[in-house]
Amino acid sequence: MSTVTVRVPAKVNLCLGVGRVRPDGYHPLATVYQAVDLHDELRLTIRDDDRLEVVVHTELDLPEGTAVPSGDDNIAVRAARLLREHLGRPELGADIAIRKVIPVAGGMAGGSADAAATLVGLNELWGGGMTRHDLEPLAAELGSDVPFLLHGGNAIGGGRGETISPILSRGSYDWVFATSPEGLSTAAVYAEFDRLNPHGVAEPEVPDALLNALRVGDPRLLGPTLSNDLTEATLSLRPELADTLAVGLDAGALGAVISGSGPTTVFLAASEQHGLDLAMALASTGTAADVIQSRGPVAGARLI
Ligand code: C5P
Repeated sequence: MSTVTVRVPAKVNLCLGVGRVRPDGYHPLATVYQAVDLHDELRLTIRDDDRLEVVVHTELDLPEGTAVPSGDDNIAVRAARLLREHLGRPELGADIAIRKVIPVAGGMAGGSADAAATLVGLNELWGGGMTRHDLEPLAAELGSDVPFLLHGGNAIGGGRGETISPILSRGSYDWVFATSPEGLSTAAVYAEFDRLNPHGVAEPEVPDALLNALRVGDPRLLGPTLSNDLTEATLSLRPELADTLAVGLDAGALGAVISGSGPTTVFLAASEQHGLDLAMALASTGTAADVIQSRGPVAGARLI
């Protein structure tokens, strides 16, 4: 086999509890991830030299001031390099073609998704023989969200986000995402969080009510439990997102929250039809770059 294709989902954080910054500069998290049906697709082809070449195809309007990095700065190339170092096979090479659908710099782990997909795909293509479990430490080295995207579904994230524990959950959820015309740097949002909380914050926890709502599988229970400790920091950098959240709630969203470090906003609908109504209300405000309907949970990075 000389080519493989991998599909990988985006994520939302149903809750994002953030603790006091650690000595290594990361923040301890208590989060619940959900993988959603918005996928990047990577086509990986073996090369007969040791080069790692990446091309990105997208129909997205990239937010102002952001670009998908090319060459060695692309996280997929970093994932490929890390995997071949780990395998002790520096002679391996690949062409990596990314079809990008997940919003860039939007708080939906688009870059992390591509890293997870590259690990899964090149492990197959290069005959690495590693299990998903074996790939986890490499994933964690590439970014805090990458291990979750190997798994997908719903899961608790601890540590700096990289420690994944499965949770009992039922049901499927209809989401609407409103993307922003400008991206946000995750590091900048965490730095703003530190500036706004100079005396530290309590240990982060996953709310019991949220876990209970997922066990029952009822979006009406889940809606009010959505939360994000980065909200104040994100709104401090992007005050206009407060209006977008208010529009969605006025239009009857069961819950509204900023996705990760933002600036994408996330709304929970009662059904697909209700999601369509919400999407129309959000699109008509003209504040969002794009409004996207999606469902979750879905599986993590998978060969197709
Ligand atoms: O892990 P990842 O590379 O995705 O993180 C990007 C940046 O976000 C980090 O360099 C750090 O500034 C911030 N971050 C953090 N605490 C976390 C996750 C990310 O401070 N738990």
